[in-house]
Amino acid sequence: MKALMTQLVHELKRFNASSESVETVFIGGGTPSTVSPQLYKPIFDYLKPYLKKNIEITSEANPNSATKEWLKGMRELGVNRISFGVQSFNPQKLKILNRAHTPEQAKNAILDASEVGFENLSLDLIYATLGDTKELLAHDVKSAFELPINHISAYALTIEEGTAFEKKPHMSKERLSLTSWIFKTIQAKGFSQYEISNFGEYQSSHNLGYWKYKDYMGVGCGAVGKLNLERFYPSTIVEEYVKNPLEIRVETLNEEDKKIEQIFLGLRSCVGVEKKILNAQELKRAKLLEDEKKVYMKDNVFYNYDYLLADEITLFISS
Ligand SMILES: C[S@@+](CC[C@H](N)C(=O)[O-])C[C@H]1O[C@@H](n2cnc3c(N)ncnc32)[C@H](O)[C@@H]1O
Repeated sequence: MKALMTQLVHELKRFNASSESVETVFIGGGTPSTVSPQLYKPIFDYLKPYLKKNIEITSEANPNSATKEWLKGMRELGVNRISFGVQSFNPQKLKILNRAHTPEQAKNAILDASEVGFENLSLDLIYATLGDTKELLAHDVKSAFELPINHISAYALTIEEGTAFEKKPHMSKERLSLTSWIFKTIQAKGFSQYEISNFGEYQSSHNLGYWKYKDYMGVGCGAVGKLNLERFYPSTIVEEYVKNPLEIRVETLNEEDKKIEQIFLGLRSCVGVEKKILNAQELKRAKLLEDEKKVYMKDNVFYNYDYLLADEITLFISS
């Protein structure tokens, strides 16, 4: 937490942060719910003058470590949104995903959060997993909507290098018909899809910030920051980060990289792509897609009908 503070002070300077200029805060990454609220206190005290009024402050939490005391403590610090890593309400699937909690624990953690006074609650589901059936996913969605939540993130299982799943690539099994079905089912319950993996009655301003291509500080081991064309990567190894939190790798993008990022982020979400960022060739191809009813334009912004096609449409426009 001391290293985190050192980096935070550094980033606030680098980003030229002024009073009330920070628009959202998100505590995520590993498992914030294993750290006691007391340890976050100096960070929150330091950040306070920089925070905008009525700011959205989210913390991720795992159901097995988010106790009522932890939830109360975080709320006292100013956290007003909790995102729970539920993944599934099926006990076998949780085991397959190496999760340490049971469906009961997940439900209780969310009910506790609501009791403690959190009004903005989200939960994560994982789909496209070996063994998923329509019945299993229907039960996951139904169980989610029985809880006091106003947001769901639904992710397709991805196999990451260096994780236990690396040797089990068959674990990730996506059937697009099931993916479309899960999107439709969540929306039919009243949560609109504002990004490929995000649905809500409430849309997270923090999430929208990424897709609107706003800048962000990334503070902590393995975090990533963005300032204009630069990306900042502190160490991803905790011991190294603690020793030297200011040893930060910098990557510089060019204008072309920036445009491609803006296009795919815009097409994956309700943000869309402003016509003015496209050159003549790109605009021509975007118009072709408009004629083909793959995208539509409103107030000089192109929007995507089907977020599942975001990558393909990006490649077509920018090729
Ligand atoms: C930043 S992660 C939270 C990290 C946390 N240690 C965890 O439980 O995964 C946020 C969410 O990403 C999703 N996630 C984690 N690993 C994933 C994977 N391999 N594929 C797809 N989604 C994943 C989970 O739904 C998780 O709740």
